[in-house]
Amino acid sequence: MGSFYHQIFVTLVLLLSIFLPCSLSSTTRRFEFNVKWKNVKRLCNTRPVLTVNGEYPGPTISVHEGDNVEVKVTNRVDMNTTLHWHGIRQLRTGWADGPAYVTQCPIGTGKSYTYRFTVVDQRGTLWWHAHLSWQRSTVNGAFIIYPRMPYPFSVPIQEEIPITFGEWFNSDVMAIEKDMMLTGVGPNASDAYTINGLPGPLYNCSLKDTFIKTVEHGKTYLLRIINAALNDELFFAVADHTLTVVEIDAVYTKPFTTKAIMIAPGQTTNVLLTANQKPDSTGMFVLAARPYLTSIFPFDNSTTIGFLKYKTTKSKETVELPLPPYTLPSNLPALQDTEFATEFAKQLRSLGSAQYPCKVPKKVHKQVITTIGLNLQECTPNKTCKGFRNQRFLASMNNQSFIRPPISILECHYKNLSMANLFSNFPEKPPVPFNYTGVNPLTENMNAEFGSKLVVVPYGTRLEIVLQDTNFLNPENHPIHVHGHNFFIVGRGFGNFDAEKDPLHYNLVDPPERNTVAVPIGGWAALRIHADNPGVWFIHCHLEEHTTWGLAMGLVVQGGKNPSQCLIPPPDDLPPC
Ligand code: C2O
Ligand code: CU
Repeated sequence: MGSFYHQIFVTLVLLLSIFLPCSLSSTTRRFEFNVKWKNVKRLCNTRPVLTVNGEYPGPTISVHEGDNVEVKVTNRVDMNTTLHWHGIRQLRTGWADGPAYVTQCPIGTGKSYTYRFTVVDQRGTLWWHAHLSWQRSTVNGAFIIYPRMPYPFSVPIQEEIPITFGEWFNSDVMAIEKDMMLTGVGPNASDAYTINGLPGPLYNCSLKDTFIKTVEHGKTYLLRIINAALNDELFFAVADHTLTVVEIDAVYTKPFTTKAIMIAPGQTTNVLLTANQKPDSTGMFVLAARPYLTSIFPFDNSTTIGFLKYKTTKSKETVELPLPPYTLPSNLPALQDTEFATEFAKQLRSLGSAQYPCKVPKKVHKQVITTIGLNLQECTPNKTCKGFRNQRFLASMNNQSFIRPPISILECHYKNLSMANLFSNFPEKPPVPFNYTGVNPLTENMNAEFGSKLVVVPYGTRLEIVLQDTNFLNPENHPIHVHGHNFFIVGRGFGNFDAEKDPLHYNLVDPPERNTVAVPIGGWAALRIHADNPGVWFIHCHLEEHTTWGLAMGLVVQGGKNPSQCLIPPPDDLPPC
């Protein structure tokens, strides 16, 4: 009898292993990240910058869909730090999400914390970055998730080209942030934009620091583009070439061809590029990025360029910089080309195939409408206020300027520490309705209230969040990022959101799914979220200056009835405050 059951058991195991090859083969990928200082020379001067493992830009994490990931982070600097895996959903593993004082207390000097999570049903390009103060300026890198199934686009890909945009500052970034908060004025702008850490030949002392990539005529390349800049949305184009967008924020899109892209801080975009042009004698084509400008604050209006070099048949290939002058691609949009940004956003659609369906919630249980914008705050007696009219600049959502508490909100939530006393509720509508995009930007303004305000929803809530820009001080394009969930951008427009009419035009068929939305300048965007990830999730503007000024809130998703719908217990090495 025993051997009979044994045989059945063996057969069952065999059958299982035939039918479930993928789900049983998840691997654990381990990484060691040491946060440390490193002297880096850019634009004629050398300064210490914060890095991971001494690399600038930081190391790439490559995994496969379904993998378990463990990153042991050790803090070897004289300040606190945390890391965030931007766009990774962190299903039930909120402890590994990373925003300081939201899901964890920071990792102190000399201490380690291992981030453990599984990459579930996501594939494509994401990234990781520090999530405390302005450390992400240099502490960031690509997070690439290879699919288990072939790409849904059929062109054979010759090679991948990672392109991470950043901003270089000639002075200490954390000091810029401190200064801004001390004086109440806008922060110093960056001194250069960079492609994979390289500013390119339009900046002083940067000839050697130029991105050049060799390509073969007739071949197609997959560009993995990340905007890791601190405070600037960017346009990107390659001279004479078109780009075919195939994925955004690690979600496949309906492919479309464009002369350029707009990419906001926090966003990622995969595009296909076919090297099908006729090069001149240098074999070079310029690729360039410069800001999409919507703000009145001082900004960095410079341009970073690099080159695509077509391979020749010469036996000895030299990859040398062509001589100046360099002409910018004629297909690169101008600094204030809102029309291009709008048209580009309109073309983004979920792939919505049988294999990759678009799971947009068609009905919602709850709607939250929130303004996003700047404030001109009255000076309090013990503050310095060197902003406009001797006041200070701030930012808010529904006029609540977010303050990070000195504790971890997730821990309080998990331990059921009376949240109500600590964090009052985020208003679900603008506290005082007004003509959001029609007020006088300078004379009609509001003082923000302060707090760590949260919206709390039950597990499984289908939530709609309408983000409404205001023109206090000035209207601006804000890239709003949601942690722990992807969302669907079902509607967007200029002016004030009309709760009656605008929903009639929502796209509930194939809206783009992403983790960061560039809300139109002087306009609004409507997001739908299936809140199926228990935890505390930060929602904030991905322009660091705005987050620092308080353009943020928290979303609390309560646990469900089944244990599998609840947050896992906190790891033993979770840092204390
Ligand atoms: Cu990319 Cu809260 O961050
Ligand atoms: Cu913003």
